[in-house]
Order: sequence, then C-alpha cells, then structure tokens
Amino acid sequence: MYKLFFNLVFKRMDPEKAHYLAFRWIRLAARVPVLRTFVAAVLAPRHKELRTEAFGLRMHGPFGLAAGFDKNAVAIDGMTMLGFDHIEIGTVTGEPQPGNPKKRLFRLVPDRALINRMGFNNEGSAAVAERLAARKPAFRATVGVNIGKTKVVPEEEAAGDYVKSTERLAAHADYLVVNVSSPNTPGLRNLQATEALRPLLTAVREAADRTVTSRRVPLLVKIAPDLADEDVDAVADLAVELGLDGIIATNTTIARDGLGLTSDPSLVKETGGLSGAPLKARSLEVLRRLYARVGDRITLVGVGGIENAEDAWQRILAGATLVQGYSAFIYEGPFYARALHKGLAARLNTSPYATLADAVGADVKKAHA
Ligand SMILES: Cc1cc2nc3c(=O)[nH]c(=O)nc-3n(C[C@H](O)[C@H](O)[C@H](O)COP(=O)(O)O)c2cc1C
Repeated sequence: MYKLFFNLVFKRMDPEKAHYLAFRWIRLAARVPVLRTFVAAVLAPRHKELRTEAFGLRMHGPFGLAAGFDKNAVAIDGMTMLGFDHIEIGTVTGEPQPGNPKKRLFRLVPDRALINRMGFNNEGSAAVAERLAARKPAFRATVGVNIGKTKVVPEEEAAGDYVKSTERLAAHADYLVVNVSSPNTPGLRNLQATEALRPLLTAVREAADRTVTSRRVPLLVKIAPDLADEDVDAVADLAVELGLDGIIATNTTIARDGLGLTSDPSLVKETGGLSGAPLKARSLEVLRRLYARVGDRITLVGVGGIENAEDAWQRILAGATLVQGYSAFIYEGPFYARALHKGLAARLNTSPYATLADAVGADVKKAHA
C-alpha cells in the first residue's frame, strides 16, 4: 500500500519537498488526541521482551529514529506515535544556518539509498532549546540531542560552538551526541582525530556537568564509516579513557560502494553522504570492530542501512544495545518501526537468549572465544 503511494506520489516529487509534506502530515496527526492514540496503538505496540536499558535510561525498545530527520525537534510526538522508541533530534548547531543550496537530497530508489548534502540546515541551539523547554509531550519518549559545528565557525574554535549548544540544550536532553562525522560541513570530520576530539569531548562533558547538576547527562560521539580501522580503534580507546557513555556507528559515507542498481550515473556522482542499504556492510563492520575493542564498557548504537528486523538483530549480535534508522523509513513508510519491532521480538523469542541484553555482542564474543 505505502509502496504504491510512494511510487505514485513521493517518487514524482522533489525528495526534500516530499520529506516536508510527510513530516507535516505526521505532525498534524500527532496534534489530534484521538488520532494519535489510535495510530500509536496500531504502529507502536509494546513488546515487553524488547524493554531496553541504555546508559541508565529505560526504553520501551532498542529502536530509534536517527538524527537528521527531525532537526528542529518539531515532531517528537509524531515520530513516537509511529513507533520509534527514542528520537534523536538535530543535528543542532550553535547558530541557526540555512544549510547548502538546494537540490541537496537525492533518492537512489533501486538501491534503496539516499545521498544528502543538507549541510546542517537548522534553527540553531537557542531556538531548539526554547522549543524543547516549552514542549508538552503527549507520549513518553527518550529524546537524544545531536549537536554539530556551525559552518562559519573555524575548526580551531569548534569546541566553543559545541559548548554553547551544550549549555543551551543539555537540560532538555536525555542523552547528548557530539556529531563529528557528517561529510557536509567542511573540516568537521577532522574533529574525529583524537588530538582534536579529546579536548572537544572534555569541554562538552564539563559544560554538560556545569549546566545540569541534578543528573549526569549521558554523552555519546557519532563516527563516520569512512574512518580507517586504526582510527576506529583510536576513537574507541579515547571513549573508554574519557568515560564516554556511548558511540554511534555510523553516519553516512562518502564512498559509493554497493551501488549497482541505480541506472542514472549523474545521481551516483552527486556530492554528499550516502545512506541506506549500501551502507549496511561497512556500518556493521565498524560496529563489530568497536565491540571487539570496548566490549560492554561503552554502549554502542548501530545505524546505517537497517531496513528490517534481521538487520537490527545482526547489529545487536555485533554489539549494539540500541539501533537506529532513517533511510529505510523513506522507502518502507509508516509500518517500518512496527515491522521491525514485531520481527525483533520474534527473533529474540526463537533465539537462545533470554533477553536482548544477553544477545548484545554475542557474535563477537563467540568469534573471540
Ligand atoms: C537526509 C539526511 C540527513 C541527515 N542528517 C543528519 C544530521 O543532521 N546529523 C547526523 O548525525 N546524521 C544525519 N544523517 C545520518 C543519519 O542519522 C544516519 O546516521 C545515516 O543516514 C545512516 O542510517 P540509514 O542508512 O538508516 O539512513 C542524515 C541522513 C540523511 C539521509
């Protein structure tokens, strides 16, 4: 049904326009109490066996919405209504910015992939903080806040920009993510080098602790799939050294591997980050490597090409406590989260593991036994 609708309507529209149209419908539906209750009952049923705890937070399940979909925190209820157990808003930057010129989002439908060079278009940390402070949630949801560098701020002054966002947003965040891995802000990914990342994460940690004294806000870092293996190890070691709460693996890739079905070569050549099915193998590989390095000392979040329950299950076995999706939601539609949860519960119930937590990293542990 959704696939037919996608082919007849969304596929003919500019991808960014289609995004905002769907987004509007979701937000409108979530504003009508009877409708949102009904939709949530159908799309977000709770599976007791999927209850998850990550960095001290209790969640209904492990599956959440990846950053970039709700950049300005306008649809947290709407996305919860559709079945996402945690919503990562952002990336939010210190200052508001328009992002890159349009067109900047491309669909590679046969490959079930997207290329984007949005460039952190967002309303900025002050406006988003104000919105989060005024929010009256209709559903209980875990809200992650993903922060990044304002484009005009030079790389050497990046920490100040992240600190500004942290001071404004940490109080509203169930967890905070330092994004140093989007390919569309010049120089951003250089911040993944440990000599730049150490002072940055330290400054953000201190700012979060200074701003929020009633609890310790969990702090995570989100990394790119394009890091060399030894750099993945270096980030993992740094995360342990700094007592970070989590690592999110991965953001989009600048590589173009795994694309074989899209016939329009100009689409494949578009500049930006590739997401969706072609990212699956590398994201899984990075996750596995991270788990082999950090084990249970740090919570890992798997993202990149998760299309269904089997993909999510593979990430859990590879070491992910939480999993996230974005691109597959565009192709699978409103039943994406529901199908994923249902399948994941079935997968767990037929597995040798009593709980999801028991399954985390089981494949990697076996390989190293
Ligand atoms: C259009 C678009 C915009 C994105 N914007 C952000 C962003 O602002 N911050 C971020 O950390 N990740 C962003 N991402 C990356 C996703 O959060 C995710 O890491 C990536 O798409 C891989 O997951 P997927 O294959 O399920 O889409 C964006 C992805 C897409 C497709």
